[in-house]
Amino acid sequence: MSNPTDQHRDQIEYWNGAGGLRWVNQQKHTDFMLAPVADILLAKAGVARGASVLDLGCGCGSTTEALSDLVGPAGKVMGLDVSAPMLGIAAQRLAQRKNVDLICADAAQHAFPTPVVDVLVSRFGVMFFGDPTAAFVNFGKALKPGGRLVFTCWRKIDENPWMRVPLHAVYEHVPRLPKPGPEDPGPFSFADVERVKRILVDAGFSVPRISPRDLTLDIASGGDLEEAVSQASQIGAASRALEGQPEAAQGLALGAIREALRPYATPTGVLLKGAIWVVEAERL
Ligand SMILES: C[S@@+](CC[C@H](N)C(=O)[O-])C[C@H]1O[C@@H](n2cnc3c(N)ncnc32)[C@H](O)[C@@H]1O
Repeated sequence: MSNPTDQHRDQIEYWNGAGGLRWVNQQKHTDFMLAPVADILLAKAGVARGASVLDLGCGCGSTTEALSDLVGPAGKVMGLDVSAPMLGIAAQRLAQRKNVDLICADAAQHAFPTPVVDVLVSRFGVMFFGDPTAAFVNFGKALKPGGRLVFTCWRKIDENPWMRVPLHAVYEHVPRLPKPGPEDPGPFSFADVERVKRILVDAGFSVPRISPRDLTLDIASGGDLEEAVSQASQIGAASRALEGQPEAAQGLALGAIREALRPYATPTGVLLKGAIWVVEAERL
């Protein structure tokens, strides 16, 4: 088992390598599929015009763009991400936005300026640190005292059929991914609310308010069953399980994904349930 430092380095490599490239290639799909999450996050963040906001782990810049509209010309949005390829997409889409600064840096290490930020938001960008408490201490420095942190993270995979159904289908034909330990970084690493509370309080935030939200996610982005099969095999846990597997097994696995998703296909997309936590806290 690797230590937090190695895990952190592995995550940075992943987001600058295979993981980041998947998100770059599937940017339109993830923007579409995760739009309901952005709506929930931004409504909860309640960002005022003229505010200064940090979008942490901003990726390809979808929420950064929405925040830029919300704060207006008198406000400022800092989008920070460790993935150079994903930030490259953000830079293209936000090139004309005078109220946006993009920074390519590790949120756990970056020397943030003296507290300038009113609100720190993140859509699924805070679950990938080897030492999350140290990371929250570090980027918490960007927040003005009393400033708010609002982020979304996934609940358990069992509550997220949009991810579980295609993953379990591919497991009929390819080996299982290693099961992450309870403190390992990864998309479901903040599913345990007690762990999230411990990390935030230890990092100098108030006891967070954590509320569940249930969603319907269109994993075909408005397309049909074949689009859903293609997306599930190119991004998310099923795609990671397929990586490097023999062609024959991959072919069988795609067939298994197709059959597993068929019951969810509708005339308006391939609709599966998703489950997130919305987490809010203040910097003390
Ligand atoms: C699941 S993606 C979410 C991207 C974006 N927030 C969205 O919702 O489209 C996770 C993001 O966290 C970023 N990330 C992971 N570790 C990071 C770190 N140490 N510092 C900054 N960003 C990090 C990744 O590069 C990636 O863009």
